[in-house]
Amino acid sequence: MSKNTNVTWHESSLTKELRRKQNGHESTVLWFTGLSGSGKSTIANAVAKELYNRNIRSYVLDGDNIRHGLNKDLGFSEEDRTENIRRIGEVSKLFVDSGQFVLTAFISPFRADRKIVRDLLAEGEFIEVYIKCPIEECEVRDPKGLYDKARKGIIKDFTGIDSPYEEPEQPEIILESNRYSVEECVEQVISFLTAKRAI
Ligand code: PPS
Repeated sequence: MSKNTNVTWHESSLTKELRRKQNGHESTVLWFTGLSGSGKSTIANAVAKELYNRNIRSYVLDGDNIRHGLNKDLGFSEEDRTENIRRIGEVSKLFVDSGQFVLTAFISPFRADRKIVRDLLAEGEFIEVYIKCPIEECEVRDPKGLYDKARKGIIKDFTGIDSPYEEPEQPEIILESNRYSVEECVEQVISFLTAKRAI
């Protein structure tokens, strides 16, 4: 519940539409969701690089990095994950308002939390990108050795092991990272944005 009863919202004369016009492109959230090790950060960063090469302004918000700063007070309980995603949703909205693309790479395991972010934004401003990869494959990749630790009980509440991951039901984009290369996944995202006339 909000504690701020005596604060007033200030409108800016520099609108989102003006900023978009200046940038020459739309601004939306590309919300990457998927298991640990599925490739969220790798693909999000590769898409950001491609956008940069096309002179399109974007920024990547990444789970591991944000948890070192803005969200360093949060752990991996359901409540903390929900708060993590709520804050990222609000930050993402600011990026969209600034006329940029924002690419978020968070497990974001709960449908309800992702829906809250979707509802925070205007129609078409939230593009859910499901990085679909079987947990068996993520576990083989295990880039940070976290699945191994989770199996041994050294890490508790690990997504896919002893904490749930709720698959998106109607994501705008599905990227099967165990079937397609990073380059092919990037191409899929760029094609989607081009078809939408967002870039
Ligand atoms: S969440 O669920 O959206 O709040 O998680 P997120 O902020 O994306 O952070 C996930 C990264 O934290 C590391 N890590 C864990 N992940 C899942 N469960 C547990 N218990 C856990 N502990 C640490 C892990 O490196 C995740 O990064 P990715 O890039 O997903 O592998």
